[in-house]
Amino acid sequence: MEKITIAIDGYSSTGKSTIAKQLAKALGYVYVDTGAMYRAVTLFAMRNGFIDKHHKDVDALVNSLDKIILNFQYNDQLGFSEMYLNGENVEKEIRTMEVSQFVSPVAEIEAVRIKLVALQQKMGKAKGIVMDGRDIGTVVFPDAEVKIFMSASPEKRAYRRYKELLHKGEEVDYDEVLKNVQQRDAIDSSREFSPLRKAEDAIEFDNSDMGLKEQFERMYNFALRII
Ligand code: C5P
Repeated sequence: MEKITIAIDGYSSTGKSTIAKQLAKALGYVYVDTGAMYRAVTLFAMRNGFIDKHHKDVDALVNSLDKIILNFQYNDQLGFSEMYLNGENVEKEIRTMEVSQFVSPVAEIEAVRIKLVALQQKMGKAKGIVMDGRDIGTVVFPDAEVKIFMSASPEKRAYRRYKELLHKGEEVDYDEVLKNVQQRDAIDSSREFSPLRKAEDAIEFDNSDMGLKEQFERMYNFALRII
């Protein structure tokens, strides 16, 4: 069977990665979570004091970009890949609310995007990949054979994220999660470089009232028709 590229974009916490992982597994494809890459760069910026509540030192971060080495390593036990920053497994740390607060301001920096998009294009060169993010169908792989744009109401998305964070043992407040989801969407959609938007040829998928099984089946069947 010919291998294709599947691009999944959409708003924060629409469940892109859950579906993308399932699709990749069913098709025997590689899954790449590009949000994890922006989160890892953000963690690097936070640790080095380049970003906090009061300031963002774009020049310092841009000058340090060469020192950031990102890679994914497959974890057999978990059945998915984890994010490594300069050789350290940062999978847990990048998912905290603290990183979520600063990731969109970091992801709007042009040099950060140039570095990560180049890396993503390299990862997907051989096709047979499911990649999720915000600009995969528009910028990273504009020629992807399958493009899906996911959305759901902000309240539903915030509730899902809230439950996920609670489950991980993080102390969070629903209103704070909702505010973060809305703020990230606003920054991601209005930024100058590769803003979040639906590619013209993407199919839109609102999963506000859809269970995981139905979502997966619909997408899987859709992909099979193209492969
Ligand atoms: O997908 P996730 O919610 O983990 O992404 C975190 C943040 O990374 C997004 O809110 C967005 O600011 C940024 N991002 C991006 N482009 C991508 C993937 C993520 O700007 N392709």
